[in-house]
Amino acid sequence: MSDTLKRQAAQAALDEVESGMRLGLGTGSTAWHFVDLLGEKVADGFECLCVPTSEQTARQAKSLNIPLTTLDDTPKLDITVDGADEIDPELSLIKGAGGALLREKIVAAASSRMIVIADDSKRVDVLGKCPLPIEINRFGARVTSNAIEALMADAGATGPATLRQTNDGTPFVTDGGHLIVDACFGRISDAKALSGALLAIPGVVQHGLFIDMCDTVYLATGQGIERITRQNR
Ligand code: A5P
Repeated sequence: MSDTLKRQAAQAALDEVESGMRLGLGTGSTAWHFVDLLGEKVADGFECLCVPTSEQTARQAKSLNIPLTTLDDTPKLDITVDGADEIDPELSLIKGAGGALLREKIVAAASSRMIVIADDSKRVDVLGKCPLPIEINRFGARVTSNAIEALMADAGATGPATLRQTNDGTPFVTDGGHLIVDACFGRISDAKALSGALLAIPGVVQHGLFIDMCDTVYLATGQGIERITRQNR
């Protein structure tokens, strides 16, 4: 069911894509459907130029013969289409469960529009139901982790901050060669303040709060697709 909804959301976003556009390709199981559907269009002669947000998405796109470029060669994109872990009523997001948050944020910031595709399980009233992924430098990882925990304590958060691991028990390493701390802040009442506080920690490379970045959400529900637009643009 959820997979069907993800594909429906991806199809709705694809309908906004015009020939010749430069696109950011997201990462994750929902973005996978978008790339797959885009691949079908490209096979039919549709023209586009794309920047993938992860090595995983790059592999998928290459296998579908989707033309790829880099932000160095193509620094301005028209639309990025990506998934999300949480979406609040202002269209602020938590992203990064797939570990691609840094490239996802760089690509989204280089795009005129960010479209998020998701099934309705991702909708929340307040961000923080799921852990917040925070990408940190390997150097001094413990010091950085301690600083994140201190921030959590200040915020009254009781949840743990855990270093993400792979199935074989080794640390998860991002495409950029960094580590991820998953921090359970609980209800995040002031996402902008938390963003600033996290970025003030020297070892923090980036975090998964996407504030004022997403313009449109296609949310697939059992009753159909909802198109939600950010009001404070
Ligand atoms: C990848 O790092 C993430 O930001 C994903 O976009 C997010 O976790 C959504 O993934 P799913 O579409 O698999 O739920």
